[in-house]
Amino acid sequence: MIAPSGPDRPPTAGPRVRTDLDGLPLFRGSAAGAAMIGLDCNESPFAPPAAVQAALSGAVQGLNRYPDHSSAELVARLAERHGVPPATLCLGPGSVGLCVQLIQIACAAGDEVIVPWRSFEVYPSLAATAGAVVRRVPLTAEHALDLPAMAAAISDRTRLVFVCSPNNPTGTSVSRSAVERFLAAVPPDVLVVLDEAYAEFTEREADPLDGFALVRDRLRQGRTNVVALRTFSKAYGLAGLRIGYCLSAPPVAELLGRVAVPYAVGSLAQRAAVAALDCEREVRERCRHLVDERERVRSALLDAGRDVPVSGANFLWLPIGSAAEVFAAHCREHRILVKAFPGEGVRVTVGTAAENDAFLAAAARFAPAGAYGAARPTPLG
Ligand SMILES: Cc1ncc(COP(=O)(O)O)c(C=O)c1O
Repeated sequence: MIAPSGPDRPPTAGPRVRTDLDGLPLFRGSAAGAAMIGLDCNESPFAPPAAVQAALSGAVQGLNRYPDHSSAELVARLAERHGVPPATLCLGPGSVGLCVQLIQIACAAGDEVIVPWRSFEVYPSLAATAGAVVRRVPLTAEHALDLPAMAAAISDRTRLVFVCSPNNPTGTSVSRSAVERFLAAVPPDVLVVLDEAYAEFTEREADPLDGFALVRDRLRQGRTNVVALRTFSKAYGLAGLRIGYCLSAPPVAELLGRVAVPYAVGSLAQRAAVAALDCEREVRERCRHLVDERERVRSALLDAGRDVPVSGANFLWLPIGSAAEVFAAHCREHRILVKAFPGEGVRVTVGTAAENDAFLAAAARFAPAGAYGAARPTPLG
């Protein structure tokens, strides 16, 4: 808000902006450069499929025009793929853009948002930006969402609950039956957001949660308070284009449309996403390869005596507590970027086989397992 001029305002006063945002953490993207191996952002290590690149080149000509605000072609393709009516789908500038919109439609100042913690680091900032109060519910000792505790944390002021599965950064998943038990305890006027940014990497889970199938089933029963989010950023390798999508009841989708930034989803993003859906087999093979690599890296770390929870995502969690920052610094010295959560652990994205080998070699040169508390990098060579 710009300060009104007036006799009691000094002429040098700047705009009157919100002071309650002072404490928000500043989001920092990856610092990866050409010389570094970036395993810190849960990106795909693969360039988009050739057919996607060709579709993008073909779409450049039309960039003088605004994109199709309704993303009609992509919505139709996604509706067909997931067996849902187009009116239940909404696209956004990354699934994080849809998180913003979901908070906007559910929360006024003072309302509560429940987040598992630790989870996707931006949930609290997005909620606080809307003036909502964030309630963080600790993960279990096994680094998993504590759904019973999250249900117990719901109050009269709760408007929205984030359920992130697989959970970023721990990689742990919740099962469909656990989510159904949780939902049975959630009042129908509380919006539950199943954030499935990494859904395509969960193929080896028992009793897997498919949030899209769950929401679809519930919609058929007239139950409208659960939505599911997916993204083209991870499995489809389109992080740089910023495009994600949400499945919800039509009135929720319509409201999401009302708060959307006009033309937020660009035409290149739409074209690329449609082309990526045409490459489903290639995308699935890439995911399978990354899942195999994930298991290879995890086995090597377990063999070395590290504690690494089972992951359903394209990353692994090393709960190394106070050694997180020194471990990340050690990896950086080996030209590898990993994401440190000070005092908690380190998240390592699964890269190409060569990148993963480089990470394992660096990890092997770190202090022996079990010595994390007092960890210091061991000398090289
Ligand atoms: C759990 C989770 N949700 C959402 C996102 C946002 O993805 P995007 O905005 O690229 O679709 C991320 C990105 O890392 C994530 O980890």
